[in-house]
Amino acid sequence: MRIILFGSPGVGKGTQAKILSTQLSIPHISTGDILREAVIQQTSLGMKAKEIMDAGELVPDEVMVGIIKDRLSNPDCHKGFILDGFPRTIKQAEALNKLFIELRINDFFLISLEVNEDEIIRRLTNRRACKVCNNIFNYHDIEGSDTCPSCGSVNSFYHRDDDREDVIRKRLSVFQSTTKPVLEYFADKQYVIRIDALETIDNVTATIVKRLTELKVN
Ligand code: AP5
Repeated sequence: MRIILFGSPGVGKGTQAKILSTQLSIPHISTGDILREAVIQQTSLGMKAKEIMDAGELVPDEVMVGIIKDRLSNPDCHKGFILDGFPRTIKQAEALNKLFIELRINDFFLISLEVNEDEIIRRLTNRRACKVCNNIFNYHDIEGSDTCPSCGSVNSFYHRDDDREDVIRKRLSVFQSTTKPVLEYFADKQYVIRIDALETIDNVTATIVKRLTELKVN
């Protein structure tokens, strides 16, 4: 199964992608995680990307398209994948469409997660991640603990540099102006599944799985 998880910053794409990746046994491809790893490794990509990410702007299309072309050509994607954070511009959507034609992919699901802006700000200012296993948490669920509940690492929680409120607002404005039109681009070509992501994490997963099952049966 091939899935594009779409939605604004902080809507829960990474959280749902990790769960679905395990349930469906297909790789989770997060362009944000790929860039953050490049920053940690201090590669030339990472050094260029850090400043852009910290400002809440987008990394240039040609860089991102190259990353995705390489990644989707990997044999582990033959049975399917979950794209999280790509495409984010019309140019990226067009490049992905072209790549799907080259790879003879004509069936994929675009799942759009939707939440209001106040909730997004709450979620992102409270987000913590584990730098060892990359799992994502809400600060209130791990408050007072220094041990990651997923991998057991100690003192591994961090708050992303782009999760400051001013940068979050910039990312939300980039989403509205540049990324949201991608939904209309695909709505012409593919069935879009819209999900109310204001529900609990488990309920959102259950709704996604139910909608995917209904669509696969019909
Ligand atoms: P990226 O890492 O992709 O960030 P994003 O799209 O802004 O999304 P987030 O990771 O912030 O949020 P999410 O939707 O995954 O939410 P999460 O599950 O963590 O990109 C970062 C930067 O990299 C970009 O700004 C850009 O510079 C660059 N970049 C990346 N891709 C690019 C591209 N294609 N082109 C150009 N540049 C690119 O959840 C958030 C919080 O909410 C967590 O604390 C979580 O526990 C909590 N939560 C999740 N679901 C729920 C729920 N149902 N109820 C309550 N809390 C919940």
